[in-house]
Amino acid sequence: MQPWEWLVQEVGHDLGYALGVRIPKRHVQALSLSLVIGMGACSSKAPTTAVAPAQRFRLTTIQELMEGQIDPAADALWASVAIIQSPSGTEDRQPRTDAEWLGVRAHAIALIEATNLLSMPGRRVKSGDSPVGAGELSAAEIQQRIDASHDSFVRFASLLQDAALKALAAINAKDPQGLMDAGGLIDEACEACHVTYWYPSQRRSGS
Ligand code: HEC
Repeated sequence: MQPWEWLVQEVGHDLGYALGVRIPKRHVQALSLSLVIGMGACSSKAPTTAVAPAQRFRLTTIQELMEGQIDPAADALWASVAIIQSPSGTEDRQPRTDAEWLGVRAHAIALIEATNLLSMPGRRVKSGDSPVGAGELSAAEIQQRIDASHDSFVRFASLLQDAALKALAAINAKDPQGLMDAGGLIDEACEACHVTYWYPSQRRSGS
């Protein structure tokens, strides 16, 4: 098989996944054949280099994922249900309209998928070794802990995913109390990973 034929098949597969459909191999081959015919019409020279699969992902750091996706999505979920007492009275905050529920749902989806991104092998904790706060491990130390057992790190990420899936189920059922409870589980899942990898000296006795 020519490298570009392989690439076309890979793209066919990826396209299928991106569209959420499973393209059977024979269809991918048919697709590559039609693309080959199409390509032949444009150019008689086939590309000679293919991108190796391992190089196809460009990963941002765990820190960037925390700041850019996980923290904002979790904050939005936590803020969506609350009982707020103030001198002017008690606000029972919760999504009410379909549009509000849909908005909260998007944050749950973002959080669920971010845990998949968090679990991808090869994602580094952060770039450089900036100064750390009291009780925090350095980037090198965090990285060492993750590298010692990536499976354990993934288990912590899936705890967060389980909690976020509970939030999604509550949102689908338009159940504010369920969403509040799931918010508590999300908080616990964040903390469990942080005390293991980021600031282990702050682990409370008995927890
Ligand atoms: C599977 C492990 C894991 C889970 C789960 C996790 N985190 Fe993190 N988080 C980390 C690690 C490791 C760091 C340290 C990276 C660093 O130095 O910023 C971090 C750092 C952070 C930071 C600091 C980013 C910065 O600017 O340095 C925030 C904010 C954060 N996490 C929020 C959250 C929230 C909110 C959740 C839950 C919704 C969560 N994290 C769940 C592993 C995790």
